[in-house]
Amino acid sequence: MSEPVQVDVDALQDVLTAPDAAFQHDYLEIRGLKVVFDGFTAVDGVDLTVTRGDLRFLIGPNGAGKTTMVDAVTGLAKGSGSVRFGSTELLGKNPTRIARAGIGRTFQTASVFGELTVLQNLDIAAGSSRGMRTLLRRRKSPPSEVEAALETIGLTRVAQVPAGALAHGQKQWLEIGMLLVQNAHVLLLDEPVAGMSQAEREETGLLLRRIGQQRTVVVVEHDMEFMRTYADSVTVMHQGRVLAEGPVDQVTADARVIEVYLGNRSHGRGSVQTSARRDS
Ligand SMILES: Nc1ncnc2c1ncn2[C@@H]1O[C@H](COP(=O)(O)OP(=O)(O)OP(=O)(O)O)[C@@H](O)[C@H]1O
Ligand SMILES: [Mg+2]
Repeated sequence: MSEPVQVDVDALQDVLTAPDAAFQHDYLEIRGLKVVFDGFTAVDGVDLTVTRGDLRFLIGPNGAGKTTMVDAVTGLAKGSGSVRFGSTELLGKNPTRIARAGIGRTFQTASVFGELTVLQNLDIAAGSSRGMRTLLRRRKSPPSEVEAALETIGLTRVAQVPAGALAHGQKQWLEIGMLLVQNAHVLLLDEPVAGMSQAEREETGLLLRRIGQQRTVVVVEHDMEFMRTYADSVTVMHQGRVLAEGPVDQVTADARVIEVYLGNRSHGRGSVQTSARRDS
């Protein structure tokens, strides 16, 4: 008699509970992306593909073009080439349309409404895809997507606290939560752990892992230790180009990557913690 078939219950669950075609084409595909400011080429022909479930870190020295690339993807900087989300071309669309297409980003400084509670912030973000009447109607409990986001970002217990009173880390989590309720399928997070305590970093890493299983996530980061702990894969940018890409161990052992980081020792926010240091 043959062995009983092993069923991967988690995988099966994923398939059965996936909303129809919602996440079917979830990948970000950047081809030949170029951004030029007054004759200076900040992003110089970048190719990058990120798929759902692959928590991708984007690293590189100051001025490498990381933020500019995120700006181009989200419509804040004018770029040429191609940026596709599934079958949708994003380049040339305005930031609002890009956000509606399911692309969300955070900035280094969290932009939450300080006077409003955590719940109200999430409600407003969720409302961007809901009518005003629904938004104003008094409800006994928050909508399910808001409750789910509160849970995911770990802020359920402070739902009624004004966002301005949150700790630095909690504000960043709230901002991520706002992207979740906006139903962003692609999240581009620009240095989410900058200024966080060690405990907040760990919480954030776990949060990114949870989100990364469901969505396409790119984390711009300077902290090599944080990257090593949580990244599935990493892309290194230098002078507007992709210098290296692949699994963390492989990339941090790459001689060109080490060179770039050793050449930037004065770099304030990140330390070089590559596995293979060059002998001096
Ligand atoms: N609006 C702009 N006008 C002109 N030059 C710009 C503009 N924005 C960025 N740059 C330049 O483009 C280059 C890339 O900047 P960018 O902010 O994308 O780097 P980064 O990789 O995000 O760096 P950091 O790690 O310091 O955040 C830099 O040389 C920067 O001075
Ligand atoms: Mg930047």
